[in-house]
Amino acid sequence: MKIKIEDFKHLTDFDNILVCDEHGVIIFYDLVDLNVLRQIGLRPEDFMGKHITTFYKNLTKENSTIMKVLAEGAAVTNVKQELITEFGNTVMTVNSTYPIIENERIVGAIEFSKHFYTKENINSLDKLAHHKVYRKNNTYYTIEDIISINPKMEMIKNKIKQIARTNSTILIYGKTGTGKEMIAQSIHNLSDRFGGPFISVNCGAIPPNLLESTLFGTVKGSFTGSTDMPGLFEQAEGGTLFLDEVNSLDIYLQVKLLKAIEEKMIRRIGGNRNIPLNIRVISATNEDPDLLVSEKRLREDLFYRLGVVQIDLPLLNERKEDIESLLTYYINFYNNHMNIIIEGVEDDVLECFKRYHWPGNIRELKNAVETAFNHATTHRITMDDIPKRMKEFNQSLPVKRVEPSTHSLKEAVEQYEKELISWELNGMNGKITEAAKRLGISKQLLKYKMDKYHLN
Ligand SMILES: Nc1ncnc2c1ncn2[C@@H]1O[C@H](COP(=O)(O)OP(=O)(O)OP(=O)(O)O)[C@@H](O)[C@H]1O
Ligand SMILES: [Mg+2]
Repeated sequence: MKIKIEDFKHLTDFDNILVCDEHGVIIFYDLVDLNVLRQIGLRPEDFMGKHITTFYKNLTKENSTIMKVLAEGAAVTNVKQELITEFGNTVMTVNSTYPIIENERIVGAIEFSKHFYTKENINSLDKLAHHKVYRKNNTYYTIEDIISINPKMEMIKNKIKQIARTNSTILIYGKTGTGKEMIAQSIHNLSDRFGGPFISVNCGAIPPNLLESTLFGTVKGSFTGSTDMPGLFEQAEGGTLFLDEVNSLDIYLQVKLLKAIEEKMIRRIGGNRNIPLNIRVISATNEDPDLLVSEKRLREDLFYRLGVVQIDLPLLNERKEDIESLLTYYINFYNNHMNIIIEGVEDDVLECFKRYHWPGNIRELKNAVETAFNHATTHRITMDDIPKRMKEFNQSLPVKRVEPSTHSLKEAVEQYEKELISWELNGMNGKITEAAKRLGISKQLLKYKMDKYHLN
């Protein structure tokens, strides 16, 4: 039989690989997501050396794909199975299994599988690596995961490709959920450091006194109870250190950080030895760096050190053209990993997504799709399935609020016109061209009406 590569392309969809010997005893197992094991109630090491049929209540020698392949020597592909764990929960999987043949003898089998998530564990999908191989360095995003057709985002993607190979520091500025972590990980994975660790620390989440030892490490005896402990700087050796919420560093630590970056070395707390560093520092802030500097919350010299390259991420509200593709992308994403299939959204849902102001940016959009998957009762997402605050925003449509009976017709029409224009301007983030397009009037007429109603 001639082997064609096309026949195996579908294997890239699978997440896990398992290899058995000729008796069905597991000799290798690699999973993309350890959370799957939590659901089964097992640890990775529990698998090695055990027979394939010991893990699920309803898996027997008769219905196990591995046992079938071992017995018959022929591959089975895309087999869907519902397996019952020792805990009694049902796990849905799909797998393709191939025999391993040596000198015409079946010596084992290899199984590629994928696990479908249910509404109960949909949350675990958040940290699922899109790129299975890259997860080994502690990341789950690459540049391919950055969905956008917005020109500014395209420029950012080009820029990160260029700068990834250098060692310059990068400062990412963006509001919550705009993709700072995603950009930082993509840079790491584009760089020659991709084989090294990506160490991420949220400077705002660790108390200042602990943050110092977390970053720089400690030496035994330097203070009561201290041990020899490498800090995150050392742990990031050969890779990237991502300082998230760098704006919350206190001034004392800012000085220490500046020194470490300038001298490319650190000293553990209580230590007397300089430790040279080969790391790249990427930092992120959700507050405008210029404002931080002018308010003296970020030292100017540190700002220049951290931001040799600065990347400003646009709000989702400023890139509304991306909403539809992000919606499709996330529907596909959940469809690919879950035991339910959503074919699309009702027209009013799409309209609502486009109008909404997205204060939580792309994370909020992703969560909205997740909520919809949780609530959906049919194969299409309806207004009933999306988060309440989005529905309420949509209901604030002026048409629902104006009561013409209390005004003369002229007044009511004018008030309605004013509210509608102001609502569209708000929704389009003040962009006159786009608001005019949506209102179906010329830009000049819109400007005239904005002056008339004092909407500038
Ligand atoms: N361009 C994009 N395409 C697809 N998904 C995106 C994009 N940008 C962000 N996301 C998704 O949005 C979520 C938030 O992204 P990320 O964690 O990178 O944001 P952040 O700026 O670090 O947010 P925060 O300030 O709240 O920490 C993630 O689930 C990420 O996958
Ligand atoms: Mg973040």
